[in-house]
Amino acid sequence: MFPRFPGPITGDLEGDLAILLLAIALIVALRAIDASRARNSRLASLAAGIALAGVSVVLFIDATNAPNPQFLNAPVDAARAAQGKTVYDHFCAACHGTTGHGDGPAAPGLRIRPVDLTVHVFQHDETYLAQAISGGMPAMPAFKERLTSEQIADVIEYMRLLGHQAR
Ligand code: HEC
Repeated sequence: MFPRFPGPITGDLEGDLAILLLAIALIVALRAIDASRARNSRLASLAAGIALAGVSVVLFIDATNAPNPQFLNAPVDAARAAQGKTVYDHFCAACHGTTGHGDGPAAPGLRIRPVDLTVHVFQHDETYLAQAISGGMPAMPAFKERLTSEQIADVIEYMRLLGHQAR
């Protein structure tokens, strides 16, 4: 929705804009408690404050879901991805789905929905992803006993390929 630019507060201009807008929303909304003002203009201030806060939340959610350009632009190693596909189809597809969208046959039975890997793979660095896979997550088993670190690196490469295919 929004092209990525670096920003001084969160590192992302859209995220920074959301914070700035929230501060403005608060100032505008605070004008609603100024008793010397007419009731209608106080109500208008309140409405404007709430509307601005709403826009701020939308921007913030959009910013947190945006891919990190650094991860998005990194080249995919096709040979590793091909090896990763075997691992993925065997160990991951049941929950995360063959295309990575989190819609595998086992997904409906889980208490936490498997994430859409095609989105999440571009939000985290390799260390985080490898840690999630080897150590597991609240609703996801740990794979450190079943996969070598090589295989985990391969499956991450395949997730990145799925991410590009989904875009
Ligand atoms: C039993 C179902 C299941 C299996 C099998 C499974 N996952 Fe997950 N996975 C989940 C769920 C559910 C989450 C959401 C986080 C949680 O559990 O709280 C998740 C989260 C993740 C995350 C974290 C994403 C983020 O943004 O935090 C990664 C990466 C991941 N899975 C990769 C894999 C890979 C690779 C495999 C195969 C080696 C795999 N998963 C196998 C259910 C599963």
